Amino acid sequence: MFKLHVVVIYVLIAGCVQVHGCGDFCFSKMEGIMDYIEEMKEELAELRFLNAFEKIGSDYYYFNHWKRTNWTTADEECRKMSARLAEIRDEREYNAILPRLQANMYWLDITNRGQGDHWYSLNTGHPAAFLKWHQGAMDNKGFSVHCVTSFYGDMWDENCSNYNNFICKLKK
Ligand SMILES: *[C@@H]1O[C@H](CO)[C@@H](O)[C@H](O)[C@H]1NC(C)=O
Ligand SMILES: *[C@@H]1O[C@H](CO)[C@@H](O)[C@H](O)[C@H]1NC(C)=O
Repeated sequence: MFKLHVVVIYVLIAGCVQVHGCGDFCFSKMEGIMDYIEEMKEELAELRFLNAFEKIGSDYYYFNHWKRTNWTTADEECRKMSARLAEIRDEREYNAILPRLQANMYWLDITNRGQGDHWYSLNTGHPAAFLKWHQGAMDNKGFSVHCVTSFYGDMWDENCSNYNNFICKLKK
């Protein structure tokens, strides 16, 4: 950023000195430069944000290990980064991300929407493409709306209001 400031000041001085009576000319030039700075800022923000994502296979993931939220908030957090709660296509993809998980429960994009043993992907609206239940973990007990977490390699149906970590995935 420091370098950018120097360049901008140099351009301003050079631009203004060459034109006598400066006035409007300098202002219009300044506006152009300010636009440029805004663009640079946006690009930097995007770079910083992409940096938080990790490429595994052909997809980019964001693993949140430190902030526990309910399922709805987890989805919102992912959307803030132009991503979505992770939708898992198949076992291969699932196995590829497992080594990145810690000893926490992580929300995925799957819910039964209160419809018993019918599991949907929030992203596609279709039945979940891949499920790997922990033995006895899919019990649908106690409450109607469940959301799915990944925990020690298996999937669990949880109360969507519980606080868990989450995995986001960039949309393609
Ligand atoms: C789900 O979790 C919330 C928050 O902990 C709790 O208030 C609610 O009673 C739970 N629902 C059921 C049916 O267990
Ligand atoms: C999730 O948490 C948010 C913020 O605390 C709250 O507004 C929302 O009702 C919660 N949703 C569920 C399903 O628990």
